Amino acid sequence: MGERADEWYRNWFDDDYLELYRHRDSAEAREFLDHVRARFDTFGRDGAADLACGAGRHAWVMAAAFGWPVVGVDLSMTLLEHAARTDPAELALNRARTPRFVCGDLRNLPLRSSAFRFAVNLFTSYGYFRAERDNERALREMARVLAPRGVLILDTMNARRAVETLIPEDRRQTGEWDVHQRRAYHSAARRIEKTITLRRADRPERRVTESVRIYTPAELDALLARADLETIDRWGDYHTSPFSERNSPRMITIAERVR
Ligand SMILES: C[S@@+](CC[C@H](N)C(=O)[O-])C[C@H]1O[C@@H](n2cnc3c(N)ncnc32)[C@H](O)[C@@H]1O
Repeated sequence: MGERADEWYRNWFDDDYLELYRHRDSAEAREFLDHVRARFDTFGRDGAADLACGAGRHAWVMAAAFGWPVVGVDLSMTLLEHAARTDPAELALNRARTPRFVCGDLRNLPLRSSAFRFAVNLFTSYGYFRAERDNERALREMARVLAPRGVLILDTMNARRAVETLIPEDRRQTGEWDVHQRRAYHSAARRIEKTITLRRADRPERRVTESVRIYTPAELDALLARADLETIDRWGDYHTSPFSERNSPRMITIAERVR
């Protein structure tokens, strides 16, 4: 049976994805998380969840460098295997703790209710589902695993800037790959779609379309509120600069579980 195009996220996050995004590395994760730790160390120490952790670059920093008890959850077995095989010494991290990694879906997290005081969902890992009820369900799940007054950091694109600065097409060479990307904003569905065509001499051509729902700050606040999460702050980039809808590359929302 063929893969459903609207479930693109099931197969894309594999070795090719890692190769293409290898510049999004542990150093970037460390820089961001050092800022996060300055404010949320006491929360993380009581237990942190990295939801859609991928190859575990944030989970490893939080566990090995900060000593937080960390569980990473992701749907991709390939990326989880990379995560589990990580050698912290190669990333210049201590070995304070080792994160645990679990395979699971954001809509049905394999984690106990109220088990964490801190959770993250980082680097555009939210808004993949075609049906809005599924995106809402994922938020409710993130809230469920948080203890009351626990904190969630949700890192999405800044919708307005993403649309205004969209580059319709580009081409680059990454290692052996010729990478051709086309991007479009579909205003009716409120989604940004990026079709990536990968070509290299020794492989068949591969094409994948990433499709992500984007949200204005007000829309996201309303969604969060329906999941018993209240926005308490917003950053605009990984240096934790204040958010500006006009200029910020990211919309990093900090929300607290209110009940
Ligand atoms: C853009 S990557 C980000 C990974 C990681 N947070 C990072 O910063 O490197 C998105 C991740 O979301 C995961 N993912 C996609 N859909 C998921 C789902 N329904 N449940 C759990 N994880 C999912 C993918 O497997 C992938 O690892």
